[in-house]
Order: sequence, then C-alpha cells, then structure tokens
Amino acid sequence: MKNILVVGAGGQIGSELVPHLQKIYGNSNVVAADINTKCADVFKDGPFELLDALDAQKFADIVKKYKIDTIYNMVALLSATGEKNPQLAWKINMGALMNSLEIAREFNCAVFTPSSIGAFGPNSPKDNTPQDTIMRPTTIYGICKVTGEMLGDYYFQKYGVDTRSVRFPGIISNVTLPGGGTTDYAVEIYYGAIQQKHYVCPLPEGTYLDMMYMPDALDACVQLMEADPSKLKHRNSFNVTAMSFEPSQIYAAIKKRIPDFTMEYDVDPVKKAIADSWPNYMDDSCAREEWGWNPKWNLETMTDDMLKVIGEKYKAGLLK
Ligand code: SER
Repeated sequence: MKNILVVGAGGQIGSELVPHLQKIYGNSNVVAADINTKCADVFKDGPFELLDALDAQKFADIVKKYKIDTIYNMVALLSATGEKNPQLAWKINMGALMNSLEIAREFNCAVFTPSSIGAFGPNSPKDNTPQDTIMRPTTIYGICKVTGEMLGDYYFQKYGVDTRSVRFPGIISNVTLPGGGTTDYAVEIYYGAIQQKHYVCPLPEGTYLDMMYMPDALDACVQLMEADPSKLKHRNSFNVTAMSFEPSQIYAAIKKRIPDFTMEYDVDPVKKAIADSWPNYMDDSCAREEWGWNPKWNLETMTDDMLKVIGEKYKAGLLK
C-alpha cells in the first residue's frame, strides 16, 4: 500500500490530485500539505498538514510521521509570476524540489514533480517538439524546470531515488484557478463566457500552445508513477499533450455553444513573449510507448464539460 504526500496540495493541480489519489489509494493514505491555512477546510476527507515546503525539518517530520513512500511535489510559481520576481521563483521552485529530493533520498521515497512546456525555449523546434532536443528556456520558470529535470535524473542515477516527471502543457480545470501562468487564458475564457459573455484575451490570435484537460493530467501522474520501471528509457521528463489550439479556436468552440459570446484581444507583452518561446505542439510518442500515455479529452469534449460544470456552479451560487 502506498503512503503518499502531496506538497502544494492547494494549487490548481494539487487540489484535484489529492481526491483523485484518495479514491485510488484510500483517504487515509494520502496526506495533503500546503502553506495556506485555508486548505485545512478543503482537505477534510484525509490528513492535512500545514507546510512551507522550504522548511526541510517540518517536511521531513511529516514524511516520518506518516511513513511516506511517495512524494508529489506540486509547489511552483508559474511563468508570468516568475518574471515579476525571478529570485523568489528560483527560491520557491528549486527549494521545494531540493527538499523533496533530499528527503526522498533519506527516507527512500519516490518523487513525482511536474516539468512543463516552459522547459523549452526559442531554439527548440516549435512543431512536433521532440522528447530529446535543445532546451534553452528564456524564463526563470523554464530555467527552474530544466534544472529540476536534470536534478531528478541526477538523483536517480547517483542515489537510486525513483524520480519521474512529465512536461505538462497548459492544464484546463474548473476546481481551483491557476494563477500567474501564460496558459491561464484557456481556463479564464470559460468563466468569462458564462459570466460576462465576453473575454479579453491576453495572447494574440495564432498563438498555438499545447493544452490538457485536468482528468487527463491526473491520469498522467498516476499512470507514470505506476509504470513498470524497466520500461522507462526516460524519466525526467516526458512530453505529454492532449491538444494544441490558439485563442480563436477555443473562442470558436465556446461560441458554438454560447452564440452571443464575444472576445477581444488586449495582448500582454510579457505573456506573448513567453508563449512565443514555447512549442506549438509537442511530440509525446515516448510517453505513449514507454508507459501507455493516451489522453481522452479534446477541445470539443472538454468545452462541453467545462461549460456544464462551471455553469452549474454559477447556478448553485457557488461562484459570483
Ligand atoms: N501553465 C504553465 C504556465 O503557463 C506552464 O506550465 O506558466
């Protein structure tokens, strides 16, 4: 039986990963940890610990207390926020990862940590971006991700720590909003469409980016961590994607369902520069071959579901 710790459990992915893992492994076997005190009310179905992931002593104490064997490190400042305070982004993103790796080494845990499309840079091939190619990111977020990928492989090779990771694209979801990411527009647009029937898009038309609906992202985490290690030629980190689109395409998909929805562009130059340095779409064939990655959601099915779920929340008065 696994004993899992999810650090950064209150974030966009963590908040859905915890209940997903609890369903699979049992509520009491999945410990949620976050720096945000409000999370104590959210994670009522299983153990919750208040944790600043930079506090190595408390982090280690929690791992000891619950006999943790698998750490999901979901702590990160995202790309656009990172550019506002690069030093803080390095401190948090690398500090949480280093603590996860060191504690995993000491207590013999496996580690999952997400990398990102942000690990690529302007010199990487933009179309069908290969698994193994030039990685020269130009954001602090991406620099942390590439460093993290290399550290993950280093801890595996040098210490035998079972580190595994995926390069996530923009994740679209309806439980916890992302914050400060370049791909966030593809989440916000659904709320704008339902609430104001209007959305102001920060990326220009024609900006293709890889995207994925949350249920596929959760499957990716579990599938990779459950994969037979003898089949893994790569570890840190696998390209994974489910769809690639640009703003006018997601707009069109929503407008088909909400005919009076309108969108205008007000381009954020920082986000545009970041998006321009990332792939249009990645080649994820290594993930498919080595551990059976096979996403289920596309732009059409995801749009149906997002509008249904968010619409119901507004009707129920859960959103204003
Ligand atoms: N969603 C992230 C961002 O936009 C990319 O991994 O920063």
